[in-house]
Amino acid sequence: MNRRNLAWKLGWYRQSELDGALLLGRMVGQTEDAYMIERLTRHCAEEAEHSRLWEEVIRELDLPHITIRRSFQSFYMRHTAPPASLLEVLCFTQIFERRVHKRFIAEAADPATPEAARRAFLKMIEDEKDHLGWVAHWLKDQPGALACLTRFQTADQAVADELLPYEHRIHDIPDLGKESLAAARQLHPAHG
Ligand SMILES: [Fe+2]
Ligand SMILES: [Fe+2]
Repeated sequence: MNRRNLAWKLGWYRQSELDGALLLGRMVGQTEDAYMIERLTRHCAEEAEHSRLWEEVIRELDLPHITIRRSFQSFYMRHTAPPASLLEVLCFTQIFERRVHKRFIAEAADPATPEAARRAFLKMIEDEKDHLGWVAHWLKDQPGALACLTRFQTADQAVADELLPYEHRIHDIPDLGKESLAAARQLHPAHG
């Protein structure tokens, strides 16, 4: 396993989970519905916990922390306007989490995935089932949901096509983040 790519990947996941938590957390103040307040608060807390788990895995694998400037989600905003309303945020979340779920299942099954990361993937795959389930259930009764889902689905495919060439060289994604000096020393000891 390429340690540099792993450090960038897990750092990117750590930051993207945190971005998801912040987005969902901001939505709590936009609803007066007690059920939605409960679901959004829990969803937000679980995404924040996922970010914490990645931070733990990064330490356990003795990988350097990479400063990530752009979450995975931010790439969608080049292809469509940022989700603003509660409906848009939950349509975006649904499409994004479908991708995450499939992706994590593949990563957990990959023999090259280190054990600590596999454990984290398996835990998140379980949480994701509930995230996908409650959001889909809510969207089913929302006028305009189908058109909104289609909009984010189109962006999702564009993001997937855009990022595919970087699968094994995440550090080359333009403006994604920065290796600190300490990280560079740890990842390229020969140049240290
Ligand atoms: Fe998550
Ligand atoms: Fe999730």
